[in-house]
Amino acid sequence: MNRRPFIAGNWKMYKTGPEAVQTATQLAGLCSNIKNTEVMIAPTNLSLPLVAQALKNTDVKVGAQNLYFEKQGAFTGEVSADMIKAAGAEYTLIGHSERRQYFGETDESVCQKIKASLGAGLKPVFCIGETKEQREQGNTYFVLDKQVSDGLKGLGLGELSDLVLAYEPVWAIGTGLTAGIEQVEKVHKHLRSLLEKLFSSDLADRTRILYGGSVKPENVKDLMGIEDVDGALVGGASLDAEKFINIIKYNE
Ligand code: PGA
Repeated sequence: MNRRPFIAGNWKMYKTGPEAVQTATQLAGLCSNIKNTEVMIAPTNLSLPLVAQALKNTDVKVGAQNLYFEKQGAFTGEVSADMIKAAGAEYTLIGHSERRQYFGETDESVCQKIKASLGAGLKPVFCIGETKEQREQGNTYFVLDKQVSDGLKGLGLGELSDLVLAYEPVWAIGTGLTAGIEQVEKVHKHLRSLLEKLFSSDLADRTRILYGGSVKPENVKDLMGIEDVDGALVGGASLDAEKFINIIKYNE
């Protein structure tokens, strides 16, 4: 199966609107001759419509970092999937470990958010990952299996064709520590077989599984060389267009 490589940048709570537009425009210029790899950036929700406008007719796609699962209503401070879609996003991250860690997201709310994104026509990049303690206690697969099966609970095979999975070991995010090649290899293989067990071999075969956690120009090539790694979710190193393009062009 030929899965299109996908390199996504998570800009977290960095950059004002004008700063985000500037970096996005610079990046789009650098990406103009990229053919095979799909590129996406996820700015803050406040910058999202500005960035989406600036990236219209370019090869760089836009995603949100989060959304709220209700359609509309008295939910002060929240933004719905329809609103994000209307602002020009094609993707949305869901269940990033920082959301789980600092904002109380659970597998149940993650599941509701995945459903809301699919319902609005947004493609979810569903983030999962174990903490350092969970890995040390030998619970990595138990944790990942629960995150995946609870996060996708109630979803049918036909609804998941746009799903992207992102494995981000929590201990590797923003720490400079990258999971070893063998660790990543094992987990990605495991996740693909889990998708097969839960859904079908066809879906498992088609679903792109990204790796995230301190991806940088120096390690991206080795990571992308792993059979079941179909892309990267990049935080810190995606904030600078010159640096990020070196990740996107990992093959050159
Ligand atoms: P990092 O972040 O690349 O800075 O480790 C990755 C992420 O949080 O998605």
